Amino acid sequence: MKTVKKAIIPAAGLGTRFLPVTKAMPKEMLPIVDKPTIQYIVEEAIESGIEDIIIVTGKGKRAIEDHFDHNLELEENLVKKEKFDLLDKVNYASNVDLHFIRQKEPKGLGHAVWCARKFIGDDPFAVLLGDDIVKAETPGLRQLIKQYEETESSVVGVQQVPDDETHRYGIVDPSTIEGRRYQVNDFVEKPKQGTAPSNLAIMGRYVFTPEIFSYLEKHQIGAGGEIQLTDAIQQLNELQKVYAYDFEGKRYDVGEKLGFLRTNLEFALDNPEFAEDIEKMMKDMLLEKAKL
Ligand code: G1P
Repeated sequence: MKTVKKAIIPAAGLGTRFLPVTKAMPKEMLPIVDKPTIQYIVEEAIESGIEDIIIVTGKGKRAIEDHFDHNLELEENLVKKEKFDLLDKVNYASNVDLHFIRQKEPKGLGHAVWCARKFIGDDPFAVLLGDDIVKAETPGLRQLIKQYEETESSVVGVQQVPDDETHRYGIVDPSTIEGRRYQVNDFVEKPKQGTAPSNLAIMGRYVFTPEIFSYLEKHQIGAGGEIQLTDAIQQLNELQKVYAYDFEGKRYDVGEKLGFLRTNLEFALDNPEFAEDIEKMMKDMLLEKAKL
């Protein structure tokens, strides 16, 4: 069995949910405390054993490439000032090979993944989306890779969401369950309110066998007029099993404004550098507001 060493990070989306900030800045560069969102995703991939990452970018995404470049002037400056902890943070991704490819038109997530097909070739691979950050003892993707190794099949990471949120996600219709792993009847992209077959939502972490590309290359248009990854998964599931795995860990939704603000606050509260000050700041703010 081939091991999972390659990952695709699609980062070509227009970021319309975050306008106007995303007019000239990629949404993947929006910071959670002091790191851009995409760096959390790259770190999870590295900690899961990934050795080669391809980031699918698009128009206006150059800042992502710059972020992962060495910045010699900055590095020299940090060495001179003996700020070695910052130097480590800045160079974190230096032990993984990063590749970039452009999606020439925004045709959807399925199309973005398809853009990386030549890089993947005949290997199994992971996909990590930047809208979800996972805080877990064992990195979310590593948990899925373990499932892939046990089943030699594709695996999609899922977690429960409330009823009124199912229409925002890919949802699975599970059949049997073994531990936290489900066999799946159907994968449905963004079901209409009240029609979701379950509350198990796809959370932006996947491991695929390369056969997924034979469905992605059909460029079938799905929900929202886009080429959907979920539709290719549904078709792959008819050829080979695709499991859903309810991974352990807390998942933060940074793909919408309120979730993004909440994630920043929670991460700041978890950070010993800010925790006390943030707590005090929040209490003061609430008191001030109550007085008005
Ligand atoms: C994408 C996927 C969806 C998945 C979601 C997770 O949707 O198409 O299946 O549940 O990411 O964040 P998007 O949020 O890009 O519309």
